Amino acid sequence: MSRARPTIDVSSHLIEPEARQAALEVAPLPIDWVALFGNEHPVELEIGSGKGLFLANAARANPDRNYLGIEISRKYARLAAERLAKQGLPNAKVWAGDVRDVLARRIPDRSLRAVHVYFPDPWWKKRHKKRRIFTEALVAQIGRTLRPGGELHVASDVEDYFASIRELVAASPHFHERPAPEAKAPEHDLDYLTNFERKYRLEGRPVYRAAYDYRPTAASS
Ligand SMILES: C[S@@+](CC[C@H](N)C(=O)[O-])C[C@H]1O[C@@H](n2cnc3c(N)ncnc32)[C@H](O)[C@@H]1O
Repeated sequence: MSRARPTIDVSSHLIEPEARQAALEVAPLPIDWVALFGNEHPVELEIGSGKGLFLANAARANPDRNYLGIEISRKYARLAAERLAKQGLPNAKVWAGDVRDVLARRIPDRSLRAVHVYFPDPWWKKRHKKRRIFTEALVAQIGRTLRPGGELHVASDVEDYFASIRELVAASPHFHERPAPEAKAPEHDLDYLTNFERKYRLEGRPVYRAAYDYRPTAASS
């Protein structure tokens, strides 16, 4: 699935704020989750959701949770929204935008049950590493938006990036690492965590995973 199909109606699954779609008109700042999803179920955020395999699988497995993906590539955001629309998953949507803007300006404090960051772009060249999205500022925003007891899940195939992510998260006293989930044996071609997980596992490359509980101290909550 790599070419957009304009005939698929994604108006209930794709948020393009600049397009001002009436069906997805949300309170401008910050997002009103109940207005957006039409229920009070807990919300999980995926940063860099690509073609939306995680969103679709997670939304299908957990109909009592809502999922929002933030994806900077319009093309991928559209493809992910098509996947969600085709599968009829009202509890998952994609926001076409830059996480550095959407997370900071749109996501309310203490409103997320979980944040997922899977296979963030590694930016291999030394001079490009500053483009990596997983920074101290991102950890601070994730901490601001997770509710107490919330979860952060991370996976990467890039050992040095994964190590720096673990260092950045460990620098916050509010995140407590817990055993990372084991990779499960897939039952079929779409039974993977994400598209990139499928690609790397089929290539036999290692996948590094970490999971954290967010427990702020009374002073910071
Ligand atoms: C390597 S891909 C991984 C996609 C997906 N998570 C997966 O595992 O299949 C990284 C994704 O992050 C998106 N991305 C990169 N920078 C971003 C940003 N600042 N805000 C939102 N998405 C971003 C890219 O467009 C791309 O789809």
